[in-house]
Amino acid sequence: MNILVFGKDGQLGKAFQGAFEAQKFGASHDIQYVGRAQCDLSDADAVMNLLHETQPQLIFNAAAYTAVDQAEQEIDLAYAVNANAPAIMAQYAVKEGATLVHYSTDYVFDGTKATPYLETDARNPLGIYGKSKAAGEAAIEDAFRNNRNPQAQFAILRTSWVYGDGGNFIRTILRLAKEREVLKIISDQHGAPTSSAWLAGISLLMALGEDGCIKSFPSGIYHAVPNGQTTWHGLATLAIQSAMDAGVQFKVDAKAIQPILTAEYSLPAPRPMNSRMSTDKLRSLLVKPGSANAFINEFQFPEWENMVREYVHRLVATGAV
Ligand SMILES: NC(=O)c1ccc[n+]([C@@H]2O[C@H](COP(=O)([O-])OP(=O)(O)OC[C@H]3O[C@@H](n4cnc5c(N)ncnc54)[C@H](OP(=O)(O)O)[C@@H]3O)[C@@H](O)[C@H]2O)c1
Repeated sequence: MNILVFGKDGQLGKAFQGAFEAQKFGASHDIQYVGRAQCDLSDADAVMNLLHETQPQLIFNAAAYTAVDQAEQEIDLAYAVNANAPAIMAQYAVKEGATLVHYSTDYVFDGTKATPYLETDARNPLGIYGKSKAAGEAAIEDAFRNNRNPQAQFAILRTSWVYGDGGNFIRTILRLAKEREVLKIISDQHGAPTSSAWLAGISLLMALGEDGCIKSFPSGIYHAVPNGQTTWHGLATLAIQSAMDAGVQFKVDAKAIQPILTAEYSLPAPRPMNSRMSTDKLRSLLVKPGSANAFINEFQFPEWENMVREYVHRLVATGAV
């Protein structure tokens, strides 16, 4: 089977390489990892040509324009990568009977809801990045609206606060904690930090069976985040404490990280205050007939704290901190 992974140099794209290597069926697939150098997603012709040349039956689109603040200036580019390219992938999937797994974000919501967001809640993005990602979701849904090809299907996995092999909040905080004695971190935005390795693993679990064949699932949006929630302040505190537990010394003490409000920290693009997303829909999809819900809850959706601790310990062990 031909599998195409877009975004090979990003956090999620890199995680796919490890996730496939961990699968016994990896070798039986022809997996192509594509980065910007092989296909610029802002070039519609390049995307179409690549799809028609490689004829993938399964596409993971881990590429995206993710520079949230810069997007306020680079509107056309953000839309080309985040909306137009996924639209082309979806049109290809409908025509050729392929499976498209695409990724989206908590930023499609305005964050005013008091409880975790459901897949059925209305999109109402605040900034250009969120608007371009929301347009990507809508474009995929549009392409599939009149789909008559029973083999064509899509999943949009909405996730939040991703960390992995690449630049991310945790790495930034660990660097700043070595340089500064005082750290002020936002404490009134709520969400779930998500490991890119976990997200790649759950994507494979959703899309491929144990035999390595594509699984059929109801097309639609699924929220994909680990268990629990925190704030950026809570995440920074745990990351620094975990590194200290592993022997790293910082200028700032984990207990001396000062909480501040979003209103006190000005950024070009607005952020949702509530990024919490219910994962009930994905959990029920992954429950195997005959297996217990508890298994899925405990093993497939671990607590975010455990994964952050593991991640930080790995950063320390590899000398990245
Ligand atoms: N990071 C987060 O906190 C977060 C939160 C919620 C949702 N998400 C979503 O999760 C998915 C994965 O995010 P991530 O954290 O892995 O992002 P990332 O680390 O920023 O990686 C994005 C990748 O997309 C590639 N890309 C950007 N513009 C491109 C273009 N014009 N042509 C080809 N490739 C291009 C980048 O290429 P270069 O390496 O060449 O720049 C990069 O490798 C995305 O859909 C994102 O919207 C992320």
